[in-house]
Amino acid sequence: MLALHGGAPTRTRPFTSWPIFGDAEEVRLLRTLRSGNWGRLDGAEVEEFEHRFAAMHGCRHGIAVVNGTVSLRIALLAAGIGAEDEVIVPPYTFVSTATAVVEANAVPVFADIDLRTFNIDPAAIEAAITPRTKAIIPVHFAGQPADMAAIMRIADAHGLLALEDAAHAHAASDGHRPAGSLGHIGSFSFQSSKNLTCGEGGIITTNDDRLAAACRSIQNCGRVEGGIWYEHHRIAGNYRLGEFQGAVLNCQLDRLEEQTNTRDANGQYLASRLAALPGLYPQVRSASCTRHAYHLFMLRLDAREFGAPRDAVIAALKAEGIPCSPGYGFSLPQQPLFRQRAFGPYLPDAALDYGSVRCPQSDRLCRDEAIWLGQELLLGPRQDLDDIARAFEKVYEHREALNASRVKAEA
Ligand SMILES: Cc1ncc(COP(=O)(O)O)c(C=O)c1O
Repeated sequence: MLALHGGAPTRTRPFTSWPIFGDAEEVRLLRTLRSGNWGRLDGAEVEEFEHRFAAMHGCRHGIAVVNGTVSLRIALLAAGIGAEDEVIVPPYTFVSTATAVVEANAVPVFADIDLRTFNIDPAAIEAAITPRTKAIIPVHFAGQPADMAAIMRIADAHGLLALEDAAHAHAASDGHRPAGSLGHIGSFSFQSSKNLTCGEGGIITTNDDRLAAACRSIQNCGRVEGGIWYEHHRIAGNYRLGEFQGAVLNCQLDRLEEQTNTRDANGQYLASRLAALPGLYPQVRSASCTRHAYHLFMLRLDAREFGAPRDAVIAALKAEGIPCSPGYGFSLPQQPLFRQRAFGPYLPDAALDYGSVRCPQSDRLCRDEAIWLGQELLLGPRQDLDDIARAFEKVYEHREALNASRVKAEA
């Protein structure tokens, strides 16, 4: 019997909890505390982290900032994106990917995703290009790099900036090239749920010296290298990351390689188990993906084939002891923010009607099909993955009882 109906749950033990930390973080944090060098300009932790993270991600430059939202905006501003420019973004992503564009006073244009990979569809990008298009922001959704070969071909052909939103993709790689170095510039988040975290933080990565200098200036109040202290060259801000975060990140970075390999192996194992059930479609691994970061383990559920609707399946899985969620409730153009164009001082004159924008693939995921499991579930032993697979199998076996109880509840 399903746990939802009073049966014994598949799993009673907790999964791996997140974040993971230990003596190394304590030692480094205390050292920073006692040094009195708490700010980016005082100590060496953030600087060390910038070098290490950038090198690990195939880049000469890393510019640490306070989160993965401002990192996107700073990257756009550094590239000179601004009023009247259009920037192509996916509709299936966290809101920041698109609001960063609005905050650069540019116009987000949505291009639908590919339902197999959940990443932006290069054909939809091509269809969205206009003479005003200046940039594309592919998101490496759930930690799998977007189709950057196709996206860079489009970017080169049209002279566009490719900004990778790699908030989910620390240490991911495509064709053995790391995320963050696949486009012209990359952006990562270190917010608490992320695969590399210090609570709140972000970084910009690039091999472009000019973009790097502009980002560093915008991150540091418009100062320029070689300038005097109170000399400010552009509208900017203080987006510098602090030394406590830098200390934590340096320790977390030591754990990233091994954790990423564990998530990747476990994610592939779970995908192979779940794909064996009717109506379950785990994210398809692209042929060129050499390491998936699995910030999320994401799959699509076809209710007709599986025999029960997504939301009932999620309720049943949770009762079985498997934490999971439906993810985003709306594609971004359908968010109140976009439908009502609640953009404050930005884009005051733009005649935009996001309410009529349709992204059928993304809408389908949000409305009926997506199921997300968090990255920490992939950090345990194989037995954890077997429990997750067994819970899905159990819900499938009891799909008729699940449906019958829904019908009764609705009557
Ligand atoms: C795809 C994506 N982009 C950007 C961000 C923004 O990062 P932050 O929360 O650090 O501002 C997130 C964070 O959730 C994200 O998932």
